[in-house]
Amino acid sequence: MTQTAAILAEASHFRAPTLVASSDSRFVRACLREPVDRTPVWFLRQAGRYMPEYMAVRRHHSLLDICRTPSIAAEVTITAAERLGVDAAIIFADLLLPFTPMGLDFEFVNGEGPVVHQPVRTREHIAALRTDRTDDLRYVAEAISTVSKHFASPRVDGDRLGIIGFCGAPFTLASYMIEGGSSRNYVETKKLMYGDRDAWRMLSDKLVTVLTAYAAQQVEAGADVIQVFDSWAGALSVEDYRDYVLPATTQLIQQIKTFGVPVIYFGVDTASLLPTMRETGADVLGLDWRVPLEEGWRLAGADVAVQGNLDPITLFAPQDVLRARVEGILAAAANRPGHIFNLGHGIVPGTPVDNVIAVAQWVRELSRRSGADRIGAPR
Ligand code: CP3
Repeated sequence: MTQTAAILAEASHFRAPTLVASSDSRFVRACLREPVDRTPVWFLRQAGRYMPEYMAVRRHHSLLDICRTPSIAAEVTITAAERLGVDAAIIFADLLLPFTPMGLDFEFVNGEGPVVHQPVRTREHIAALRTDRTDDLRYVAEAISTVSKHFASPRVDGDRLGIIGFCGAPFTLASYMIEGGSSRNYVETKKLMYGDRDAWRMLSDKLVTVLTAYAAQQVEAGADVIQVFDSWAGALSVEDYRDYVLPATTQLIQQIKTFGVPVIYFGVDTASLLPTMRETGADVLGLDWRVPLEEGWRLAGADVAVQGNLDPITLFAPQDVLRARVEGILAAAANRPGHIFNLGHGIVPGTPVDNVIAVAQWVRELSRRSGADRIGAPR
């Protein structure tokens, strides 16, 4: 039996009998490829630095203070979702928060991104990382609980907003731990991966343990869906992804699925990896903008939902160009069940908020199933 098959066999013992058959959120129904009245829409990084409301909060609090104060994290999450008119709210948090209870200090340096003070480079350091303090992350679940109560009654076109919890995937988090920050070539990560397979496996296992517990807290608090960010998986060849990354990622995703929620698995520059990423059993695969949506969906497989995939930089384009791109994506998805409209990666600072609001509105109008024939038609 291959390693992945063994993990799947083990995970199947824990699997909940069925996911909730239907939901009062069109976003959740689309994740499960159930019929929807129109295509649900939300945006990666929808509550970030492009938004004046966020920047106003940010003037008085550091990024980590916002993440660690449930009332502020909830407020930022809710404000963005309501302002944009989207179908889902992603909890305001950061991928790197689990590093602290694992014993790794980091900070966000303005203009540089995250910096880990003592990058993980040795087997001894990996052995010392802790997996028994995930309770320290409960502030994220508390924020989710507040957001979930706020959106308990129907809000967008009669439907309840979906609440998205999230965590990093083992590879992407390991890369931050090992590189000490963002990276171009992942030299240190790949050196450890190739050079000490046992150490790599120990690190992956520890991450899976922590991330599973963290995701469980989020689901218990009211998250309808968990998104697993493998933002930098595109740095790997198919062979290395399959060999070094797929087993732990599959284990994480299968364990999250046992909590009874759909899982969205997202990466960037993943066109060549999609057929292998689908083997994780994720319900939804994120498509980045480089791959045409039809081709991405074909590679992901007809039995998964897809999320994407507008180039976030088209949000800077004149509205006629932007609208044509939105129409193009909706036409390519052709109202098949299981499309969630999103960007191919996160909104960047400086993006005009009005264009983001316009995209959400166009998706809501153009994808109505009764008006499906309008998609792609000349205006
Ligand atoms: O609504 C939202 O989407 C915001 C919530 C959110 C943040 N980080 C807050 C944040 C989410 C979903 C994340 C995920 C995250 N964090 C990812 C995966 C998403 C992706 O884009 O693929 C990654 C790779 C990180 C790690 C991280 N955090 C980096 C690389 C940076 C620096 C980015 C930059 O441009 O400076 C951060 C900082 C960060 N996390 C910001 C925000 C709003 C910006 C900094 C700030 O507000 O001070």
